[in-house]
Amino acid sequence: MSRFRCHMFVCINRRDEGNPKGCCASKGSEAIAAALKVAAYDRGLKGIVRVNKAGCLDACGAGPAAVIYPLNVWYRGITLTDVDEIVERTLVQGEIVERLVLPTALAPAPMNPAPTDPESVRPPDASS
Ligand code: FES
Repeated sequence: MSRFRCHMFVCINRRDEGNPKGCCASKGSEAIAAALKVAAYDRGLKGIVRVNKAGCLDACGAGPAAVIYPLNVWYRGITLTDVDEIVERTLVQGEIVERLVLPTALAPAPMNPAPTDPESVRPPDASS
């Protein structure tokens, strides 16, 4: 059983000015993360939804970036004006704000699904 219904991870990674990758912090993500947390609490989500600051989510060029689990929804280009809508529509109602969705081509590759065959993850037998 999960402690929280969902987690929202907001990248606040900062890189040196001039770094070609850029960073979300230089686009205001620290204020956005703080505003999301306050808005979620104000909406009564404390203890239900957790808004976490995160390091680089590997979507730097499209930042400020965030991901919400277990919805597996990636947002990009978030601004302070999007905060209340994200909280209400996504964190409360579980809807996706389509205009903020990170294009699939920019999203980090998904992890391989968990193996369903226990034999595939069993360590090799040392005696053979
Ligand atoms: S710096 Fe934010 S996703 Fe990489």
